[in-house]
Amino acid sequence: MSLQEEARFAVVVVGASRGIGRAIAKVVAREKAVVVLVARSSEGLAAAAADVRDAGGEAYTLELDIVASDASTRLRDFLSANGLVCDVLVNSAGYGLRGAAMNLSVEDQLGIVDLNIRALTDLTLRFLPQMAARRRGGVINLGSIAGFLPGPNMALYYASKSFVRSFSEALHQELRATGVTITCVAPGPVSTDFLERSGAGRATLFKILPKLNSAYVAERAWRGFKSGRRLVVPGISAKLVIISAKLLPSAVLLPVVGRLQRRSGDPCPCGSGKKFKECCGARRRQTVGSH
Ligand SMILES: NC(=O)c1ccc[n+]([C@@H]2O[C@H](COP(=O)([O-])OP(=O)(O)OC[C@H]3O[C@@H](n4cnc5c(N)ncnc54)[C@H](OP(=O)(O)O)[C@@H]3O)[C@@H](O)[C@H]2O)c1
Repeated sequence: MSLQEEARFAVVVVGASRGIGRAIAKVVAREKAVVVLVARSSEGLAAAAADVRDAGGEAYTLELDIVASDASTRLRDFLSANGLVCDVLVNSAGYGLRGAAMNLSVEDQLGIVDLNIRALTDLTLRFLPQMAARRRGGVINLGSIAGFLPGPNMALYYASKSFVRSFSEALHQELRATGVTITCVAPGPVSTDFLERSGAGRATLFKILPKLNSAYVAERAWRGFKSGRRLVVPGISAKLVIISAKLLPSAVLLPVVGRLQRRSGDPCPCGSGKKFKECCGARRRQTVGSH
């Protein structure tokens, strides 16, 4: 698939103002592509547009909160007003929250469902029919190694990425003969604002796993998509985590992940207001010790 041949075909990157989305936009721009950059922050979009132009691409920016109920309509209207069609959709907008589900705000956790699941599904399903009719293009969905296991102390995020993986892999199979590719990209920790914003960067698990840079992940994602890959797992450590998650029983995996994602000062999920280690954590140690 050569993007130079079809200048009005666009690669639409949602979550393009920073991080992995911005890096993918830059990689794609090297092919002289038209890139539509979507996110909420105008400053981030302007900087990403400069990256795209510097790399040889044509940039359009759309300031849009993708969880808004009319977001997909506004994106489609923007494309048609500019004479563009979505050839490739990159769903990179996403966030997570570290902490026990009982201790985090319900609204903030539902926000993960709205962005990581609902908005991604909405855009994917709205753009796929035209791609299938044109028998070209496709979707890159940002999953994570978190999509391969349950994640105590980051439950909603892991569950959302499990959805992304399952949905993307199933669509890949459904569209196999149509010329349309769906690729799920599943990195481990990547050095972006995500780690700080989600609080994940302060958990032991994310401290011990090596961090990839977003440019490397973007290269792997784009190359994998262009070669029709169902799943792209950048980096050795991410592959090892996925293999371990497949081999280890849940009875082993859950306590290990839960422990590595808990911080010593975390409040107890029972609502006592005490620290976990001085409350249910201490009670559990006594129970285990008495047997
Ligand atoms: N970094 C990691 O360690 C890591 C690892 C595995 C998977 N991932 C996944 O990779 C994807 C990208 O992560 P990242 O590290 O690049 O995160 P990031 O640096 O926080 O960037 C997130 C992007 O999403 C945009 N965004 C967030 N909410 C939005 C909304 N409501 N509407 C429109 N855009 C929105 C942000 O722009 P605005 O704030 O300007 O809207 C930003 O451009 C996510 O799905 C994440 O789960 C990340």
